[in-house]
Amino acid sequence: MSDTHGLSQSTASVIDVWIKKFPEGKARSAVLAGLKAAQDENGGHLTNEIMENIAAYIGLPAIEVFEVASFYDMCEFKPIGRYKLSVCTNVSCMLCGSHAIVDHLEKRLGVKMGETTQDGMFTLRDVECLAACINAPMLQVNDRELYEKLTPESVDVLLDRLIAEAKSGE
Ligand code: FES
Repeated sequence: MSDTHGLSQSTASVIDVWIKKFPEGKARSAVLAGLKAAQDENGGHLTNEIMENIAAYIGLPAIEVFEVASFYDMCEFKPIGRYKLSVCTNVSCMLCGSHAIVDHLEKRLGVKMGETTQDGMFTLRDVECLAACINAPMLQVNDRELYEKLTPESVDVLLDRLIAEAKSGE
C-alpha cells in the first residue's frame, strides 16, 4: 500500500507486516498491531483521528477499529504518564495482597487508580489477570515488563529506579 491515510510510514509498515501474516481477506487481524504501533508513536495514547486513519488504511469501517481499541486495556484514549503502572487486581493477585500494593502506590504517588501524577511521570491502572498469577501480586510497566512477587518495599525500589532512569534520560 502506498497511501498511508495519515499514518506514519513506520505504523503503516507494521500493519503491512501483520496483514501478510494472515490469509487474504483477513486484514482486520492487523488492527491491534496497528493500534499499538500508532499509540507508541503518539506518546502513549490514541486519538479518534489515529483510529480512523488505521481503519482507512486497512479498509475497515472506523467502528471496527474503535471496538478493538476499547476492548484492550493497553489502549489509552488520553495522555498518560511516562510510565504506566498496570497493577493486577484479579483474584490471585487480590488473594496475595494486591490491595496493599495499590494502597502503597496511591499513597506514594499521591494519585488514585486511573490518574496520572502531576509531573507526568506515572499513570496508575488496575487491570485484569496478566497471566503471572504464580508470582502474584504483580504489575506491568508500559505494557511490557512484568514485576512480580511485589511488596511495598520492592515497589519502592522499582519506582526509585524508574525515576532515576527518567532523570538520566532528560
Ligand atoms: S490474577 Fe494477577 S496475574 Fe493473574
